[in-house]
Amino acid sequence: MRIVLASSEAVPFAKTGGLADVVSALAKALGELGHQVWVIIPHYPQQLPRNLSPAIEPANISFPVPIGTRAADARILWSTLPGSEVTVLHVDQPAYFNRPSLYNEGGRDFPDNCERFCFFSRAVVETCRRMVLRPDVIHANDWQTALIPALLKAEHRKTTGLSNTGAVLTIHNLAFQGRFWHWDMHLTGLDWKYFNWRQMEAYGQLNLMKTGIVFSDMVTTVSPTYAREIQTPEGGCGLNGVLTAHRDSLVGILNGVDPDDWNPATDPHLARNYDAATVAEGKPACKAWLQNHLGLPARADVPMFGLISRMADQKGLDILGQCLDEVLQQDVQMAFLGTGERHYEEMLVAKQRDYPQKVATRIGFNEGLAHQIEAGIDAFLMPSRYEPCGLNQMYSLIYGSVPVVRTVGGLADSVVDTTPETLANRTATGFRFDDYSSEALKRTIFRTLEAYRNRATWTQLMRTGMAQDCSWGRSAKEYVRVYEQAQAKSAARPADG
Ligand code: ADP
Ligand code: GLC
Repeated sequence: MRIVLASSEAVPFAKTGGLADVVSALAKALGELGHQVWVIIPHYPQQLPRNLSPAIEPANISFPVPIGTRAADARILWSTLPGSEVTVLHVDQPAYFNRPSLYNEGGRDFPDNCERFCFFSRAVVETCRRMVLRPDVIHANDWQTALIPALLKAEHRKTTGLSNTGAVLTIHNLAFQGRFWHWDMHLTGLDWKYFNWRQMEAYGQLNLMKTGIVFSDMVTTVSPTYAREIQTPEGGCGLNGVLTAHRDSLVGILNGVDPDDWNPATDPHLARNYDAATVAEGKPACKAWLQNHLGLPARADVPMFGLISRMADQKGLDILGQCLDEVLQQDVQMAFLGTGERHYEEMLVAKQRDYPQKVATRIGFNEGLAHQIEAGIDAFLMPSRYEPCGLNQMYSLIYGSVPVVRTVGGLADSVVDTTPETLANRTATGFRFDDYSSEALKRTIFRTLEAYRNRATWTQLMRTGMAQDCSWGRSAKEYVRVYEQAQAKSAARPADG
């Protein structure tokens, strides 16, 4: 198939969270299945890693994109995803994207986010048309590109060579919907007739995520459990009604892991590489390295927990903060890495101050350290309030670090709780709790500590985790089935969606 993946971020070019990992890994996996894939992202010059290889080159294509009452130029650059033949098209418009960060500054969203991403969405469709990509499907991701299905269905269907192109939207996080005041409707360039409760309006506002759900041929989200949760009032963030109405075209597909980036046997960030056969020597070496690096006592016997996270309400840092003092009375070490909301950062920095022999907190975004923590720790904390999929629990499994997670979303779909039964049938991979409370989290951490003291149990958990298949192969095939369904539905769909 000919597949265009549109996203506001993709590794290694720009990343704030899992979306960036997923888009690039899925694109590569689809390419390996023999499909022709183009990734289209905005060009953020300030986000690019140093020594990017291959380099980004001009494509000598530029065109004006109507936005509101004026037009802004889109200049197309191109490169390939490192280690693959997947083409990446970068939409350059410095006034929108040459900024120090992707979406916000000082904790506040950029005031022109609607304009920036309406521009980008239009530029994606226009790129497909001008470069004659003739995609069978355009796959949009999250609210930033969720206008694309509406543009395809409302404007381009009959006229521009995109008439049979299927539209797919993946919801990576329903909490972020791209909600803007109604006057921003003019930035979409679509007729006001679409601003109604069945299509682009929700609770009086323009809602781009809803727009994408309504106009797409197929909607996916990043785990089967999250696909169910978002159809309930508790998990639906106000859009559960819309999602329930579209449940026949809603599919949950679990994310995978890119083995080029996350594989302890080849990871260039590690002091020692290891696999299932050498984990008994390799992991202690990585642990000692991490302890030294973080200034913690280098002890092999102390259970070491890690957490790598955007510091946001989603991630369960409030319940963690409430039980940390009690947990830190035990003989444990903890490595925290993250950036985000100031009060969570300060809470974890304060814990390092209070327990300098036990806690190391690093504020910031640090790709290398994220890998080193995954390899060096014994157990990984992910007590999320909600979690559409989550990647770090899967990285943890592969790196032989036992995940401690709340039973929600993709965490429920990828971690098997340790019980006498799951130990006996050798399916146990981690520790889970249901209640969103510090008490439940604390009890689960204590359960983890108890298991750690039993070497046979712990070794079994590590080995079962490392043997899990978290690769993209299976999920990429599921996406292909969704693309085929989208294309078939598109052909049968009325012109205005
Ligand atoms: P989300 O997308 O909600 O943030 P995921 O678990 O899907 O959660 O993905 C988060 C990704 O971002 C992982 O690859 C994780 O390692 C990475 N990450 C998060 N915070 C940091 C950080 N401070 N430094 C390095 N990597 C980080
Ligand atoms: C979102 C979700 C996360 C998911 C990621 C990639 O950021 O919060 O759970 O893993 O998208 O799909």
